[in-house]
Amino acid sequence: MDVFVIKGSKPLRGKVRISGSKNAVLPIMAATLLTSDISEIDNVPNLRDVHTMTKLLTRLGASIDFSKNRLTIDTRRVRTFEAPYELVRTMRASVLVMGPLLARFRKARVSLPGGCAIGARPIDIHLKGFAALGADIKLDGGYVDIRGRHSPKRSVRLPFPSVGATENLMMYAAALPHKTVLRNAAREPEITDLANFLASAGASVRGAGSDTIEIVGSRKLKGSRHSVIPDRIEAGTFAVAAAMTLGDLALTHARADHLESVLDKLEEAGARVDRNADEIRVSANRRTRPITLTTMPYPGFPTDMQAQFMAMMAVGDGTGVITETVFENRFLHAAELTRMGADISLEGRVAVVKGVRRLKGAPVTASDLRASAALVLAGLVAEGKSEVRRVYHIDRGYESMEVKLRSVGADIIRKAE
Ligand code: EPZ
Repeated sequence: MDVFVIKGSKPLRGKVRISGSKNAVLPIMAATLLTSDISEIDNVPNLRDVHTMTKLLTRLGASIDFSKNRLTIDTRRVRTFEAPYELVRTMRASVLVMGPLLARFRKARVSLPGGCAIGARPIDIHLKGFAALGADIKLDGGYVDIRGRHSPKRSVRLPFPSVGATENLMMYAAALPHKTVLRNAAREPEITDLANFLASAGASVRGAGSDTIEIVGSRKLKGSRHSVIPDRIEAGTFAVAAAMTLGDLALTHARADHLESVLDKLEEAGARVDRNADEIRVSANRRTRPITLTTMPYPGFPTDMQAQFMAMMAVGDGTGVITETVFENRFLHAAELTRMGADISLEGRVAVVKGVRRLKGAPVTASDLRASAALVLAGLVAEGKSEVRRVYHIDRGYESMEVKLRSVGADIIRKAE
């Protein structure tokens, strides 16, 4: 397992190119199962999770080429409707093949994902949604056996705007030759990107990005070409790196309009933010001011940026408060930051972060993707050397993070442990 060795260094300065969005490309890859055709997806980030989804689609019978950030996915020979446990347990997003497989074969057998570090992460909202649209669901030995009934219902209201459930149900509805309405749907930019892909394949999708999505599907969806939106969480992570190191970074190929709540919080903390068409410039010349933040479904402050902001507050000037409302156990990074000298007290879903002048470098271990990012950020400003272990978490969701950080002045190297 690789380790990042980081020496607390000087401010980061320069340009960073933001890669395509992990959380947009994964559902779009699953959506190619709705067609028996060839689809081309551009601006695809070279991530472990993309390789895992590629492995799953290949297991189902697709043939896939991935070169120079372009995925070519041929689903004409997809024959299997079962997503096996050994693949689904490595990546929860594998459950996103359920909707497309149900649409294609009128049945699917998908392993339950199991929990992960940040929480139980059940898929009850997905399953209730499919049942509301007329599917029969049986749980059998850790697998979901789902069958499409002949007369699917026409609308479903989600009890919570679950991103994955919204995506799974959108993909199922995209193959039903009538109008289906999803209410209390998730509004994330990745939902809109999936909607655009489904529309280019031949479905009609209205309302993506709002809480009500209307889909008129088709039984003859075609392969299409699509370029994935930029990764707003990668952009947010580098924006925090600029603020924490009192640096000045220009984030290119980024979309400020996908990050408004994050950029507003950075400005509230005293950073300077310039928003241009496809570039975001973030700089700071003093320790960040104390802020309070509460994570919410989009367009609220994203839970995927919570750990990074905790690292920023850990060296801020004053006491910040974080409330995590989306996941039940997403403060695992607090203990590791505390080992670096951070002053953080946790009370249920609330973290109180008292800024200290400097953190001390230390060996730390990552538990999940965004927690790892927070530990790397902390290492960038800590005194002395830090070693972030289990870097495979980072490689799941950040393309060449250490290369990008080094290109703007960070002292960081990857070494095999
Ligand atoms: C997506 O996960 C993202 N992953 C997550 O990003 C992100 O944190 C999350 O949305 C929230 O924004 C991908 O898009 C691949 P949810 P997802 O369904 O779809 C509960 C990252 O770091 N819930 O909106 O799994 C769930 O337990 C990852 O890139 C149910 O209870 O998120 C959680 O507490 C981490 N039952 C909350 O809802 C369900 O059926 C939000 O989950 C589904 C979800």
